[in-house]
Amino acid sequence: MNTNDLASIARAMVASGRGILAADESTGTIEKRFKGISVECTEENRRAYRDMLFSTKGLGEFVSGVILYDETLRQKSAGGTPFAALLAHNGILPGIKVDAGAKDMAFCPGEKITEGLDGLAARCAEYVKLGAKFAKWRAVITVGSAGPGSARAVPSMACIAANAHALARYAAICQAAGLVPIVEPEVLMDGDHSIDRCEEVSEWTLRETFAALASQRVVLEHTVLKPSMVISGKDCAKQAGIQEVAVRTLQTLKRTVPAAVPGIAFLSGGQSDELATGHLDAMNRIGGAPWALTFSYGRALQQPALKAWKGSDANVANAQRALHHRARMNALATLGQYRAALEKELIRSA
Ligand code: 13P
Repeated sequence: MNTNDLASIARAMVASGRGILAADESTGTIEKRFKGISVECTEENRRAYRDMLFSTKGLGEFVSGVILYDETLRQKSAGGTPFAALLAHNGILPGIKVDAGAKDMAFCPGEKITEGLDGLAARCAEYVKLGAKFAKWRAVITVGSAGPGSARAVPSMACIAANAHALARYAAICQAAGLVPIVEPEVLMDGDHSIDRCEEVSEWTLRETFAALASQRVVLEHTVLKPSMVISGKDCAKQAGIQEVAVRTLQTLKRTVPAAVPGIAFLSGGQSDELATGHLDAMNRIGGAPWALTFSYGRALQQPALKAWKGSDANVANAQRALHHRARMNALATLGQYRAALEKELIRSA
């Protein structure tokens, strides 16, 4: 392995004006998304949906990489080209989700630990052969209603430490195999907690994560961080505005993320499409961060395309237009050049 390659792949993933499309839903998760549009979750429908996304003309202008699921990395476009080759041909780096999902954590009610370290080195070696350039592992941190003073407070130190350790072991295994790891510690927005509590939990999670990365000898220059934003809980009566989310998120990241990390690619985590774009834009307008700030959105990039597609070939062009538009809006947000008025441009061009 040439370690310079990992540095340049990591930089390319977060290059100015581009971001990542997360299309790595497990079969169970994509089934939930398909239920919302009344499409049966067959292997062929999953393939056709991803084919629609990946063959969108001009996507490579705004998207630097796509995260795939194991099944998808082995599938082909309608024309017979493997998806990894199709993406690479369009200047997009193929990536792969390598975790085995977040499972209930023993003795930590209501909390999750992500599994998948066993056999990971061998799986990474195969993924490299299949064309993957980077990987992703998602850790999930739940914010509970019992506050920090309680013995039953969620998150627990046990959960944060175990997930940070797993993220770091994963990242080291990926780098040794020649893949850039996306390190994704997601603090869930589910719940009625305040933005203060989200900030506190996010800072704690990131501190533990970077301590674990250091102790596992992970090379920060060969890593991309994928955090959640510092945001009010979904059911919190008082919702912080765009500017407050941007300021608090940047402050938390500056306190915890070394400048050696080339870039931070946020998850959308259930935010509306336009809000996820607005938050990223506001952070880039503030500017002055030592790392690139971009997107690695799943739902916030795919939702309009999924709704337009509805499982029918006749809707492919409209669905692709919707994806292209969201990708363009988010690409503008990486430059701090997004304006809500631009959202109308899709309607005009449709
Ligand atoms: P969302 O942007 O929908 O949160 O998905 C990103 C992702 O990859 C979750 O692991």
